[in-house]
Amino acid sequence: MTKKAFRAEILHFINDPDSVPIDQAYQYFDDGLLVIDEHSGRIEQVGYYSEVAPFLGYDTLLEDYRGRLIMPGFIDTHVHYPQTEMIAAHGEKLLEWLNTYTFPVEKKFSDPVYARKIAERFLDELLRAGTTTAMVFATVHKASVDAFFDACEQRNLRMITGKVMMDRNAPDYLLDSADSSFRDSQQLIDEWHDRGRARYAVTPRFAPTSTAEQLQKAGQLLRDNPGVYLHTHLSENADEVAWVNQLFPDHDGYLDVYDSFGLLGRRSIFAHCIHLTDNEWQRLAQCRCNVAFCPTSNLFLGSGLFSLDSARSRDVQVGIGTDVGGGSSFSMLQTLNEAYKVLQLRGETLTAFKGLYLATLGGAMALDLHDLIGNFVSGKEADFIVIDKAATPLLAFRMQQCRSLSEQLFVLSMLGDDRVIWATYAAGKLVHQR
Ligand code: GUN
Ligand code: ZN
Repeated sequence: MTKKAFRAEILHFINDPDSVPIDQAYQYFDDGLLVIDEHSGRIEQVGYYSEVAPFLGYDTLLEDYRGRLIMPGFIDTHVHYPQTEMIAAHGEKLLEWLNTYTFPVEKKFSDPVYARKIAERFLDELLRAGTTTAMVFATVHKASVDAFFDACEQRNLRMITGKVMMDRNAPDYLLDSADSSFRDSQQLIDEWHDRGRARYAVTPRFAPTSTAEQLQKAGQLLRDNPGVYLHTHLSENADEVAWVNQLFPDHDGYLDVYDSFGLLGRRSIFAHCIHLTDNEWQRLAQCRCNVAFCPTSNLFLGSGLFSLDSARSRDVQVGIGTDVGGGSSFSMLQTLNEAYKVLQLRGETLTAFKGLYLATLGGAMALDLHDLIGNFVSGKEADFIVIDKAATPLLAFRMQQCRSLSEQLFVLSMLGDDRVIWATYAAGKLVHQR
């Protein structure tokens, strides 16, 4: 017997709420049934209980989650696992914050045992927050990537990471070289890319910590290994942008540095993108690049206010990133809460539907994983969460006042956090229970 069926309220997205009439953007079943094949870990079917249940074999195991809401697992499109231990460090902006807190912590990841210990803790936090897939920064150490992928493989999680490439403008103890980073990255790609649910991202930290020679090697890795990702930071902080212009005076701005080394493409993820010019937005769109919007981090580090409309108007795919430890929460719901406020300050807006789309199917699109995860289309991998909309007294009380699904989902996005995640499933297996 390998089929399992989950009865609950069920919501998933099938389109971007901005590109179709809202009733074509999502499917919602107030009394739904999600059927999965436990053996393959894939979705079989989703629909109303009354329509699906009569066709189930008598040997299908039924899990009754009535009163709870099932959604696809959240997808965090930008986060640093080694920074778990320095989340919420007081008082600096990006460049000082890196020197004061980040680099000293990342030094510890040369030790594979330590790296594994933190990888496990990080994954515990992700799953507790309902996040089942993430695009993850490791450190400069090859061992940090092995430790992370090993931990993910054991839990059968779909994750993307890569060795950080940085050969200048950081403490000596964290520097590689253009050649060693090329060699190490290639070895890791050979070992891990497309092994089980793992995928690899070529990961130059950001333009200031790489020489032109190293960025050229990053481009070479992408050309040599079609299908691997590019993951980096872009235009997060005004001082950083000025520094890039100083370091690369012959280039036409920050994005052009990455562009000239062949780093722009359908599988490129750029975190932040706050201070981009019109031309840079257009170029991102032209190359089908993806952007991670990291509101808690952008507020916490005082980096600035991201414009979702700038991406929207050019059809650039956006995902949501927690950016822990620059970000201040692992919860994608808390991150949507801050996204809403950032956009309020910009005179833009975020509906509950758009936010939850970005946290699920939108993130999957940004990571080019939408053929595998992001919603409950049959054949996709069964990564999903069971949500308790009344997890706190305030939520329970506030939900009673809601008159519509969209109102409920908005309240959930604003007041929810890891406490609302009742259970998390990856590839059909329970991996977290509150
Ligand atoms: N830019 C370069 N490195 C980092 C980092 O670790 N965090 C953030 N938020 N921005 C960066
Ligand atoms: Zn980051």
